Amino acid sequence: MASAPREQWTSRTGFLLAAVGSAVGLGNMWRFSYLTAEHGGGAFVLLYLALTLLIGLPVLLAELVLGRGAGRSPVEALAHYGGRSWRPLGWLFVAAGLLILGYYSVIAGWTLRYALTAVIGGFPEDPGAFFGEISSGPAALVWHLLFMGITVAVVAGGVKGGIERTSLVLMPLLFALVIGLAVYAAALDGAASGYEFYLAIDFSQIWSFETLHAAAGQAFFSLSLGMGAMLTYASYLSRREHLPNASLVIAGADFAVAFVAGLAVFPLIFALGLSGDVGESTVGALFITLPKTFAGMGAAGRVVGLLFFVALAVGALTSAISLLEVVVASVMDGLGWERRRAALLVGPAIALVGIPAALSLDVLGTMDQIAGNVLLVLGGLFLAVFVGWVMRDPMAEVQPGAEGVGWFALWRWLLRIPVPIILVIVLWQSLQALLGE
Ligand code: TRP
Repeated sequence: MASAPREQWTSRTGFLLAAVGSAVGLGNMWRFSYLTAEHGGGAFVLLYLALTLLIGLPVLLAELVLGRGAGRSPVEALAHYGGRSWRPLGWLFVAAGLLILGYYSVIAGWTLRYALTAVIGGFPEDPGAFFGEISSGPAALVWHLLFMGITVAVVAGGVKGGIERTSLVLMPLLFALVIGLAVYAAALDGAASGYEFYLAIDFSQIWSFETLHAAAGQAFFSLSLGMGAMLTYASYLSRREHLPNASLVIAGADFAVAFVAGLAVFPLIFALGLSGDVGESTVGALFITLPKTFAGMGAAGRVVGLLFFVALAVGALTSAISLLEVVVASVMDGLGWERRRAALLVGPAIALVGIPAALSLDVLGTMDQIAGNVLLVLGGLFLAVFVGWVMRDPMAEVQPGAEGVGWFALWRWLLRIPVPIILVIVLWQSLQALLGE
């Protein structure tokens, strides 16, 4: 099969920025803020942080270990350590990648469309109607296809020349934009009520299964876990990399960006007293409420809004390339295809998967539910069981580059018992919620 030596990242920073780029995306800004708004503010943030540490971090390290250890894409990596019978799980990952990128690209298309609007005509007076027009139908389709085209172009450029180079440029830009927006928002009148909603913790909200499964699904989605994206990126790593440290940096940066984005979003929403609109449309919250704010801010609103949607688009791109890379790498490893050919075949296939989401907001919302709360959690459950119970000596694969780290035993124990238990509960809840709808 594939005889060319495997591609590698050029530097540690390159890998870390690419992995953080995968993690940081629409999940941190769009998904995180609408879930926080829906589930009571601070309580949700706290639970999400706790689950990131308790289940996100261990599963992230598990993916890194599997990927680097095997040096293959998910299907082959699972077969390498667990035997052929684990292959179907790898294909489930690939299927999840197809599904997620399909609708993710539609939302990313909206962000491009909004950025253009900021430049050309300014934000519309009635963002609800505007969102209705561009979120589904031909307009959504065109921007979806454009975004997929850009994503394919980056991935076709390879691990170093495409993915790493893009991340090195775009991630610092994204950090600067998000921080800048949060600083700007802090100066707005009325910012305080935004902070209060975002940061005050109402403990009665924490003990709800609904909040639990939303927060767990979000921890997985935001860290790009449960479908082999981190696994695939780690397969391009050398044995010198310190995986536990890498997992801490990735999870830390991902949470930090979500948190700081919230520091921008909530004061912006509350500054104009628009908090009542947050519940209007879950999926559309960010795309309706914030433009209202921007439209109400005059010329400054146009600039701030532009920067905001550029930040979203940038985050979406570095995440989308990781989703596409899972599928492309699997085709390369599985069929022995060359990268460009694989990218040019897989890209259009994903564009097709996204078409129903581009035509109906309901379909898009359902795809997001199925992917985020079911497929990723299921994938994470299997990954935890695989590395916790099936893989013979995961410690031997963490060790290179990380000798003398003391918490390996704790990590394996978490993967063996607490993580699967929590994930089974979450999965059960998610399925019930989904079927109840
Ligand atoms: N984590 C990204 C975000 O927050 C989305 C993403 C990229 C993703 N790759 C993934 C989600 C793999 C799940 C699995 O926007």
